[in-house]
Amino acid sequence: MFILEKAYAKINLLLAVTGKRVDGYHQLETVYQSLALHDTLKLTKITEDRIVLTCDDDHLPVNEDNLVWRAAQKLKLLYEVKQGVHIHLEKKIPVAAGLAGGSSDAAATLRGLVHLWQLPWEEEVITNLAAQLGSDVPFCLYGGTALGTGRGEKITRLPQCPPFYVVLANPGFYVPTASVYAALRPDDYSREYDLAGMLAALKTKNCRQIISHLLNMLEPAAFRLHPAVKVLKTKMNTSGSALLSGSGPTVFALFASRAEAEKLAQVLLRERYKVWLTETFQPHVVGGLPND
Ligand code: C5P
Repeated sequence: MFILEKAYAKINLLLAVTGKRVDGYHQLETVYQSLALHDTLKLTKITEDRIVLTCDDDHLPVNEDNLVWRAAQKLKLLYEVKQGVHIHLEKKIPVAAGLAGGSSDAAATLRGLVHLWQLPWEEEVITNLAAQLGSDVPFCLYGGTALGTGRGEKITRLPQCPPFYVVLANPGFYVPTASVYAALRPDDYSREYDLAGMLAALKTKNCRQIISHLLNMLEPAAFRLHPAVKVLKTKMNTSGSALLSGSGPTVFALFASRAEAEKLAQVLLRERYKVWLTETFQPHVVGGLPND
């Protein structure tokens, strides 16, 4: 018996840092949005009582250094599961790129194993476990459009974002999230921002207003560390709809028209960037769990 789970990438339409916390994390208000771009996990029961992880990308660890393995181990211990699993991960989302690929893989592992091991979906318990794995993991459990507060782990669902075509591009190097947060200076984020305006734009499905409220307070720190990312954003921002995704280095640009998105993607491909053309995505939620 096996289960297939899709793990969707995310962007942040708005990421405001409101302060540094005593635990070292930063306090956030962020609007998450899922993308159609996804990894796929195949979870198969095995007779041995252990977790076996394989991956089509040889560069990724397949032990406790992988968030998928840690998610499976935490769930297994919590519910004292005496069965094993083989998880095969097919990567499409670029790694350490600001798209929450690892977080989404971990969330998909939790969803898949709850089914495979026939555990109860105890929302609070699973969400807490997800938050221990990473700040973005609780959002990735359900996806869609949502507000994240706290360090990003406290989730409130929002009205669905209207559909956009999304061009993603990155310069092809990794950027660890912690390095960007460590480079943040208080003057990068001690400023006003308009979350209410973004929420109103989502509610009224006003694409132009959504684009005019795009904001990421991690941009100054990421651009100081990696000036090439600022160059990329400038190239992608011809219609004012480009923004650094999370802590980067991926930059996204939103388009109502596929033709315009394809035009930008072609330009970036010719300049040898890594480029993806995808769309915003809303998973169907069935019985409290995403079911596409
Ligand atoms: O939560 P996660 O493990 O994904 O975070 C990775 C790193 O990013 C943290 O160790 C921390 O340095 C930084 N971070 C932060 N504030 C947040 C989220 C992440 O400082 N709200």
